[in-house]
Amino acid sequence: MALLLTRTDIQSFLTIKDAMEAVEEAFRQLALGTVDMPQRPVIRVPDHHGVVLFMPALIGGMGALGMKVVSVYPDNPKKYDKPTVLGLILLNDPATGEVVAIMDGGFITAMRTGAVSGVATKYLARSDAQVAGVFGAGVQARAQLLALAEARPLVRAVVYDVVPEARQRFAADLSAQLGIPVEPVDDPRAAVEGCDVIATATSARDPIFDGNWVAPGTHINGIGSHAPDMRELDTAIIQKARVIVDLRAAALAEAGDLIIPIQEGAITADHIAGELGEVIAGRIPGRTSPDEITIFKSEGLAIQDVSVATKVYQLARARSIGQEISI
Ligand SMILES: NC(=O)c1ccc[n+]([C@@H]2O[C@H](COP(=O)([O-])OP(=O)(O)OC[C@H]3O[C@@H](n4cnc5c(N)ncnc54)[C@H](O)[C@@H]3O)[C@@H](O)[C@H]2O)c1
Repeated sequence: MALLLTRTDIQSFLTIKDAMEAVEEAFRQLALGTVDMPQRPVIRVPDHHGVVLFMPALIGGMGALGMKVVSVYPDNPKKYDKPTVLGLILLNDPATGEVVAIMDGGFITAMRTGAVSGVATKYLARSDAQVAGVFGAGVQARAQLLALAEARPLVRAVVYDVVPEARQRFAADLSAQLGIPVEPVDDPRAAVEGCDVIATATSARDPIFDGNWVAPGTHINGIGSHAPDMRELDTAIIQKARVIVDLRAAALAEAGDLIIPIQEGAITADHIAGELGEVIAGRIPGRTSPDEITIFKSEGLAIQDVSVATKVYQLARARSIGQEISI
């Protein structure tokens, strides 16, 4: 028997706090060496501007095994009224290999991507950070701001999206959800200046703000770009910052934010100070001074999905949520 969990089921109980706890432990296990995570195969579907990624992982130290299939189709919202990111997760019993759960992977993708930024913010942002700037007002951006608010006691946030209605809707929804003022701004500069933490969660292909606007002491989570020729962050800000990644190999294979400055000769691969798991495990420092600019660059790892899906499965079982199916 397997448990079938829909997006609505998962949305009814999964909190960003639960997701952050699962993801933090997954990255600790990655640093401890209990993870088996092959590099994800990516299939591009150029006729429809889409990519499909196949993301398996075993996290030995958490007894978690599974795989996500996720698609990223930026034309979906406009053309088909569907989300850009759609996904499905299979969870296996590590003892028998049996599939024990089949669940929606769309909401979990947003929550686990928010969660890793929340954990990075906990370790890298200044402890007195209280104003957030958000780029993008889509599905990922919402979970990014929830996670920033979980990591630091925010008093205010601003959001910039190229689509005015999107940023206005985001601001109204997130103000109500978080109970703090979230203001839409029509100039990207206003989502950088005066902000202590910044989240970039857009579908942009080229840098979305000028790195020279960023004040000392700022922490940035860059999660949007996912291909060697795509970036949200410009060379200036990458050069100035202490850069932590989720996985070096993934960053050097997929993160245009780093690959393009390397190709330009502005930095070398050694500019990457380390991986988030190494910071969590205490092997390398996070922030080293109040004035340092820190960047966490996320490509997204299967351990995030598998750890959060395992938590979702446990919570659903405890609450008797979902539908048992026989395959
Ligand atoms: N790192 C990860 O683990 C991870 C996980 C999921 C998605 N992603 C990536 O995140 C990106 C966003 O995904 P989503 O599901 O939120 O998509 P979405 O379509 O819901 O939202 C993207 C938003 O970005 C806005 N945008 C585009 N260019 C912009 C710019 N220059 N400045 C400000 N806003 C801009 C769009 O108007 C849109 O509202 C995608 O590129 C996706 O591949 C990364």
